[in-house]
Amino acid sequence: LASIEINMNDIPEGQTKTYEWRGKPVFVKHRTKKEIAAEKAVPVADLRHPQHDDERVQKDEWSVVIGVCTHLGCVPIANAGDFGGYYCPCHGSHYDASGRIRKGPAPLNLHVPAYSFKDSTIVIGS
Ligand code: FES
Repeated sequence: LASIEINMNDIPEGQTKTYEWRGKPVFVKHRTKKEIAAEKAVPVADLRHPQHDDERVQKDEWSVVIGVCTHLGCVPIANAGDFGGYYCPCHGSHYDASGRIRKGPAPLNLHVPAYSFKDSTIVIGS
């Protein structure tokens, strides 16, 4: 499918769900206020792939990333690892709740796909 629609009501605050889009997993995380505050406060200069959270989300409550580790392409585990985001068990990469690489061998942040909000849905691929 060129695009998929995700009902935001299906993802309670604090949870992450995985969808399939163009043959790849997509993680949609409904972030808590605490998670949002933590990600906004991360000093960008400390990051391997420096990106502020604001560059990675359209609405603070929702983080949408491609679930493919930027090291060698394994699928990370959601809501795991040392930084409140994702953990890739293949070689131990830890991503934060913005999908940014924080520890381990991966060189880049998890990729953010094109998406948009429409009513109570997130449309991935548009
Ligand atoms: Fe994820 Fe190597 S593929 S850490």
